[in-house]
Formats: sequence, structure tokens, C-alpha cells
Amino acid sequence: MEKIEEQQKYINEIKELNKNNENLKYCILTMGCQLNENDSEKLCGMLEEMGYTKTDNFEDANIALFNTCCVRENAEDKLFGKLGELKRIKEKNGTIIAIGGCMMQEQHIIDKIKHSYPFVDVIFGTHTLYRFPEDLFKALQNKEKVKDVIDIDGEVFEGLPIKRDSKIKASVTIMYGCNNFCTYCIVPYVRGRERSRKPKDIINEVKELAKEGYKEITLLGQNVNSYLRVEREKNIEFEEYEGVNSFATLLRAINKIDGIERIRFVSPHPKDFTDDVIVAIADCDKVCKLIHLPLQSGNTKVLKEMNRKYTKEQYLNLVDKMKSRIPNLTLSTDIIVGFPGETDEEFEDTLDVVRKVKFEQVYMFIYSRRVGTPGDRMPNQVPEEIKHERFNKLKELVESQIEENNQKYVGTVQKVLVEGKSKNNPNMLTGRTDSNKVVIFEGNNDLINKIIDLKIESEHMWYLKGCLIGG
Ligand code: SAH
Ligand code: SF4
Ligand code: F3S
Repeated sequence: MEKIEEQQKYINEIKELNKNNENLKYCILTMGCQLNENDSEKLCGMLEEMGYTKTDNFEDANIALFNTCCVRENAEDKLFGKLGELKRIKEKNGTIIAIGGCMMQEQHIIDKIKHSYPFVDVIFGTHTLYRFPEDLFKALQNKEKVKDVIDIDGEVFEGLPIKRDSKIKASVTIMYGCNNFCTYCIVPYVRGRERSRKPKDIINEVKELAKEGYKEITLLGQNVNSYLRVEREKNIEFEEYEGVNSFATLLRAINKIDGIERIRFVSPHPKDFTDDVIVAIADCDKVCKLIHLPLQSGNTKVLKEMNRKYTKEQYLNLVDKMKSRIPNLTLSTDIIVGFPGETDEEFEDTLDVVRKVKFEQVYMFIYSRRVGTPGDRMPNQVPEEIKHERFNKLKELVESQIEENNQKYVGTVQKVLVEGKSKNNPNMLTGRTDSNKVVIFEGNNDLINKIIDLKIESEHMWYLKGCLIGG
């Protein structure tokens, strides 16, 4: 807590530095997952308290901020492309450039920035995000280049300012880090070990969000269903609050908070999907029945090499069990194609699981070698063309399933949380079903932030079209 107060002092110092300077702006580019987006909301909160306002254009910004991801190579390429562009802008406008996030936890990236992009002012890592005000102050006041990256797990900090992107849906990080070390994945190396937030801090944050009028909460973590697991397994004492001592009890406690109408969570791990979690999902009316259940591969041998700790059969049995106990369950998943050593036959198992489960949504990825992971050191890397072939095959199957699945919505009545005007068609409103499908429809603005019944009239691959009942 003291540490946060110290940062508050730096926020005030920067405000003081800026006091004769109105119209100061920041521009932020966030890459990666929802955890990174939630971190960015905290960075925006700090910057706003310092007196900066947000712009979407780097040309207009006094501070250019990047919150980076390194889960796949294309995320890296994006940063270096942008930095080239920013060099020119900095030369013209004197923009302060700050880079944080997962990529900054990788030494070879830091070396590359030092060597090829020496004009970057501030570099900070995932464990030092809370120290951004201090780092920025040093760069502004002393005009020094700041590198603030540590390798030890950060503490769990509470009380950082936050500026949320939406007034309707809010993300709440419940745990940081990951202990699973899937062999393809860089996340455990750049985010450190699992650390859960205290039940009391989470519950109070959600209660506060409910008071502010938020309707939907998404609980975030790399492995949400191992919430408080380390504490339980190692007998580390923690303070229970409103009966919360596990992920299942956390869902139950949040389900009781008045004002919150929908609860989502990403990502659970199939190996930790215990019965108490399944029963809690079924019992809690506010918990959306779309569950993200990352498959990664449908082949038992590949799963073993990935260190996922479940087999094809165990995954399918889990799906059957969930479907039988949770009415109206829908599922989404993540799949990687072209993991080292994956043969055509093994890839067929992935297609087989996709055919059997009929996911609502599949996030598909081509395996990307990550420096420092066991997967990168495996000798039998799959050639690029084959990876792409498999990707296209999977995509074709998934798209045909989505089309078929969308047909099932036509003619039904769906509960939709209305989020605002449709971006593509300002005469229409847009919202989402329990299963997270986008629905657009004609209606009055006073429906925004309400859950309403819509009759689905037609499907269009990535969205559904609906109408008000009796309207
Ligand atoms: N903790 C979450 C998500 C982690 S990252 C989980 O376990 O589900 C999000 C997704 O990126 C992963 O589910 C995986 O499908 C994909 N991914 C991770 N590392 C990858 C890599 N090296 N190449 C391709 N996809 C990867
Ligand atoms: Fe990566 Fe696996 Fe951890 Fe997910 S569970 S973050 S895929 S190591
Ligand atoms: Fe990327 Fe870091 Fe998330 S590597 S996926 S931003 S945890």
C-alpha cells in the first residue's frame, strides 16, 4: 500500500510539472489479451490523473504508450512496425515514448530496442506496471532513459487508479501469472507465478462496479479455475470473505451482488474444471452459459507434449459432463495448429473434436516459436506451408459449423445486453446474447445498458439481426 502511495506522489509531481500546460495528450496501443487490456485501463487511469487526456492519434500525443504482447510472433512485428513510424513523429513533436507489458520481460527484445530503437524513453515490465508514474517522472524531469524491468514476481497491488473503456462491461483481474508451463507458451516466463487477489478486494471492486451501473463483469486470469489453489495446496493462510475460498465460491459470491446481471470468465483450464465449478455455473443465474474451454489440440500425444495434462477422451468427457449438468451450455475454445511433431493424423483428431463438440466460437492460431520455451527447442518443427494448410482446413470446418449453428438462433428469442450504437450502422443498436453473439437491431437509445428480449430474424456469419418483440 505504501508503494502505491509513493506512486500517487509521482502522479501529483507530474501534474505539477504539467500545470501550465493544458491540452496534454496520450495515445496508447494495447496488444494481446484481456489481461493486458485491463492493465492498460490502469495505465490510462494513472495518465488521466496526471492531467493527460486520451487521443487516438500518435501525431497529437505528448506521451506514446505501448502495452505489448509476445504470445505469438505477429504481436512482436506490430510493435517494431509502429516504432519505426514513431521515430519520425518524435523527431517532429518530441513525443515521449514508453513501452510496457509482456514483451519487455524478454531480454532479447530489450537488447533489440536498445540497439535499433534507442530513442525509446521508458521501458517497464509486467511486474513494475504500478511504478509507471515514477518511471515517467524520471523521463520527464531528468530527461533520462528509464529501464525498469524486474524478474521477480510482482506483488498484487490494490488501489491503482483505473479508467475503464466501457460503462457497461468491466473486466476484473482475479489472479496474475501462470504455473502451467504449456510447452508452446511464453506467458509463465513473462508474467511470473500464480498470485491470486484477496477475495475481499475482488468482491469490493465488483460491488463498486455495480454501484457505478456496470451490468457485466468478466473475471480474468490465465487459469481462473485455479484461483487460490496455491494458497490451499501450500496451506498459506488467506482471509476468506463472504465464503470465498475457491473459484466456485467466488462465482457464487459475485452472483449475489445486486446490479450485476452477467458474469463471464476467461480462461479456465480443462484440467482444473472440478465439479464444484460446474455446479456453481449451473446454479448461478448470472453466470453466462458460454464457457471458454481451451482445447489447443485434440490429439492425446500432442496434448502430452504440450504439457496440457488431459487427453482427448478426458476433454470430451468433461464436455459431456458439462453439457449434461449445465442447461443451454455453449462452448468456445482456442486451438493451435502445427505444434512441433504434429502429424496429419494427429491433426485429424483436432478436427474430430471440433466436429463433435460444435463450438460456438473457435480462436485458431498457427504455432509460433517462442524463444525460451521447450517447444522452440523441439527438433521436429512443422514446415510453414503445412501449418497454413492445416489452419485453412480447420478454418473451413469452423466456419461451416458457425453458419449451421447460427441458423439455430433464427426465430428464437434471446436476452441481449444492449451496448450502444452499431459501429457499422449508426441507425442500429448492438448488443450481445448470453452466448456472446453480436445482435444488431433497431431501437431507441434508452435501451442501452439494459437486458432486453429480441427476436432473431436472420444470421450473417459474424452477427445476428433481431427485432424488438411486438415492435
Ligand atoms: N491462459 C490461457 C490463454 C493463454 S494465451 C489459456 O491457457 O487458455 C491465448 C492463446 O494463445 C492460447 O490459448 C493458445 O491457443 C495461444 N498460444 C499461446 N502460445 C502460442 C504459440 N506459441 N503459438 C501459437 N499460439 C499460441
Ligand atoms: Fe500459457 Fe498454458 Fe499458462 Fe495458458 S495455461 S497462459 S497456455 S502456459
Ligand atoms: Fe500476450 Fe501477455 Fe496476454 S504475452 S496474451 S499480453 S499475458
